[in-house]
Amino acid sequence: MQTNNKQDILPISETLFIPLAARASEIKRDNPIIIDDKSVEIISSIDTSNMVIDGGEISTLGILSRTKVIDEEVNCILEKFPESIIINLGAGLDTRICRLDNGILNWYDLDLPEVISIRRRFFTENDRIHFISKSVLDKSWVNEIDIKESSNIIIIAEGLLMYFTEKEVTLILDILSNRFPEAHMFFDVLHSFFINKKISSTFLWGIDHAIDIEKLNDKAKLIQSWSTGNLLKERQSLFFRLFNFLSFTRNRSQILHLKFEKNDA
Ligand SMILES: C[S@@+](CC[C@H](N)C(=O)[O-])C[C@H]1O[C@@H](n2cnc3c(N)ncnc32)[C@H](O)[C@@H]1O
Repeated sequence: MQTNNKQDILPISETLFIPLAARASEIKRDNPIIIDDKSVEIISSIDTSNMVIDGGEISTLGILSRTKVIDEEVNCILEKFPESIIINLGAGLDTRICRLDNGILNWYDLDLPEVISIRRRFFTENDRIHFISKSVLDKSWVNEIDIKESSNIIIIAEGLLMYFTEKEVTLILDILSNRFPEAHMFFDVLHSFFINKKISSTFLWGIDHAIDIEKLNDKAKLIQSWSTGNLLKERQSLFFRLFNFLSFTRNRSQILHLKFEKNDA
């Protein structure tokens, strides 16, 4: 039976159906970027008739790029530190736990309460997989993470920070860097060209160059960045391939890997 999950959530949370649909739709392709049976199962049980679930070619490729890069990068860290703690901010109906669970990691999915209640219909909490029903801007959420001094921490924020103002992004980075020194963080960021324009959503924050992120937090060190214009090129239309020489087209969305430096003693 299909259920309508849209009625109780804020417009910002409705954006969670776009990445869900992008991942699920790959199953129909000859050369899928990912095979995500869980997203297919979820989307087929939701009545999406009155929802925007297709963000267009560029949004879909950006979502698939970040899914692939973050899956691979987190997996690499998990090979070295299999008992890592993963904190997934703005989790929505993200399915990464189904792909990366190694049986010993600890995983926290955080989102607004009404979204976590939708998440509970499709995912189950256990002694290693936890849900946090709070805004990322409410710094009390950090107290729900059970950390030990030796814990290796990986923070993921996919499709999230562009919905906040620069002041709010700075607050989030402050919360993270103070509470989780030495944590790795993976997230996507838009080019500032796309700010305050009505695209698939209205975005409030972006940066021109990946290194600019260090200006927002003095403990944040950029480890690596990926421009989505350079990823999945075989799937990009001729128009985008031609215009990738422009920095705002090539860097329309970038995936960043940061590491927070230790707090001063
Ligand atoms: C575009 S969706 C991305 C979902 C998921 N990360 C993915 O890639 O499939 C944005 C998500 O951020 C969540 N979100 C928005 N504002 C939030 C806040 N203040 N605190 C926590 N989550 C928030 C929304 O509810 C939604 O689930």
